[in-house]
Amino acid sequence: MCGIVGYIGKRDSQGILLGGLKKLEYRGYDSAGVAIHTKTGLELRKSKGRISELETRLEAQPLSGFAGIGHTRWATHGKPSDANSHPHTDNEMNISVVHNGIIENHLQLKAELEQLGYRFVSETDTEVISHLIAHHYKGDLPEAVRKAVSHLRGAYAIAVLSAHEPDKLIAVRWASPLIIGVGEGENFIGSDIPAILEHTRSVYILNDGEMAVLTRDNVELMTLEGNFIAKQLLRIEWDFVMAEKGGYDTFMLKEIHEQPRAYRDTMRGRLLEGTGISFPGTSLSARQIRGVKHIHIVACGTAYHAALIGKQVIERLTRIPVEVDLASEYRYRMPVIGANTLVIAVSQSGETADTLAAMREAKLAGARVLAITNVIGSSVAREADDILFTHAGPEIAVASTKAYSSQLIAFYMLGLFMARSLNTIDRAALTEMIAMLERLPYQVERLLEDKESIRRIAERISGREHLFFIGRGLDYSLAMEASLKLKEISYIHSEAYAAGELKHGSLALIEEGTPVIALATQELLLEKTASNIKEVKARGAYVIALTLEGNEELEKTADQVIYVPRTYSLFTPSVAVVPLQLLAYYAASIRGHDVDKPRNLAKSVTVE
Ligand code: G6P
Repeated sequence: MCGIVGYIGKRDSQGILLGGLKKLEYRGYDSAGVAIHTKTGLELRKSKGRISELETRLEAQPLSGFAGIGHTRWATHGKPSDANSHPHTDNEMNISVVHNGIIENHLQLKAELEQLGYRFVSETDTEVISHLIAHHYKGDLPEAVRKAVSHLRGAYAIAVLSAHEPDKLIAVRWASPLIIGVGEGENFIGSDIPAILEHTRSVYILNDGEMAVLTRDNVELMTLEGNFIAKQLLRIEWDFVMAEKGGYDTFMLKEIHEQPRAYRDTMRGRLLEGTGISFPGTSLSARQIRGVKHIHIVACGTAYHAALIGKQVIERLTRIPVEVDLASEYRYRMPVIGANTLVIAVSQSGETADTLAAMREAKLAGARVLAITNVIGSSVAREADDILFTHAGPEIAVASTKAYSSQLIAFYMLGLFMARSLNTIDRAALTEMIAMLERLPYQVERLLEDKESIRRIAERISGREHLFFIGRGLDYSLAMEASLKLKEISYIHSEAYAAGELKHGSLALIEEGTPVIALATQELLLEKTASNIKEVKARGAYVIALTLEGNEELEKTADQVIYVPRTYSLFTPSVAVVPLQLLAYYAASIRGHDVDKPRNLAKSVTVE
């Protein structure tokens, strides 16, 4: 998500840190900052906005020193602002910290630290780390960092620079990537390879629970228990462009692979010890939920498809009626909105003009607006009454993948939270569903291990100009997203159809060899979808079925079958979407398209 760079050596660090941060710019960020140990101690420069703004600040007031840390921030806690930018420090300016990840228990730690007299100056979760290190510092920086991180729950990659021991940089990794670059008389920390590639190709990749103590001439690696470890120094052969994409051919493929992490980050701190759901930092209360009589969801594009699934999730779990509208339609159709209507605006970017206009319309009519968005500080986030952030991290490819599936995770949690507030679900069922939510990232990881079979299927369809996706219920909504993904990047024309509706007209288009991708993941509808598969098969379709592991009987009718792991029926789209994203991806790359930048499309559409 955010970017980290650290330097200790014989060269002036300011230029190296800025250079490293610029190399991380492509990942998206909203603010940047550096801390350098200068002759007068720790000094910071931070700025909301582009790195060029930080650079201007550094030109006016340069920092000179041989050790420093830098950060590009993608806000997760607290809006983008100078104060919320990293590095963060303790009150005495002895400790500075940059952090990627999310500290789940930061509110509790903050309260404890405030009791002890520590003053907080930002709204971030990160600031607790600098105070905790200061609190534990007794003359041994690595020891203080170890003690501090033992209190943290969540995900963190951190780099620490201290005025107490300016000849050291400390790096710790837990569930958020971090690497150490080894040079001659200088060493580096980076959240990603591009940050340091200009200076060295020799790296240690830290694992979870590992810490590195860097000096100018040495790197010591140890566990969080303080035991030294030996690690193989790796040589990075990637060129810069490959490194930016984490070794994947495209950002889209990288982002498809980031989904397990995105799911974990979106759930982080929100699933309570297997017994409940909470949205810290969101004011949406159980009492408010009990007052809601109607829900309208507004969104565009891929977010609209997530909303279609969100509708079914909420209705099934709460029995509150939900309508879903394309934001561009909602604003002009004079929707019936009352004070007990909750309007949910879904937007990855939080800047889509139609979605913003729809939510403004709803607010004017007196509705409460809840936003589901990926971008803190975005217009949608600023104007909504309540916000549920997805923590998918910046998405670069135009075709949305991890942002969509994280929106599904947000809807699952919201649905369960509402159901609990309304008592439409009992505690035992909730516990079971939370356990299934927690398994989703592992199930997606398993699916991503077998990409080859999907690539082979993509070869079959990549030469076609038309195809159909069919499905019922949730599978129909998922089919709409699968079809959009394929259209966006492969330019193959496809239509998503409710499986039972095809025979009312469009079946006329099925001829010998027409590919039909049949989604059949909903156990209760399986037989019905199987009959629809037979209908198209009888007209010569080439059928690719996607179903749950164990439903082998579909092999008798379908030409190919893709299997996905079993989970709670409402959660299935969040695993089933993965092979469908891959199918679109491979079809587009086999056709030789620029997958990350499809023609005519923009990542964020800020005009009507
Ligand atoms: C654009 C993008 C789509 C996206 C839609 C809504 O059209 O190309 O991928 O789904 O906007 O974007 P939002 O940021 O509001 O989710």
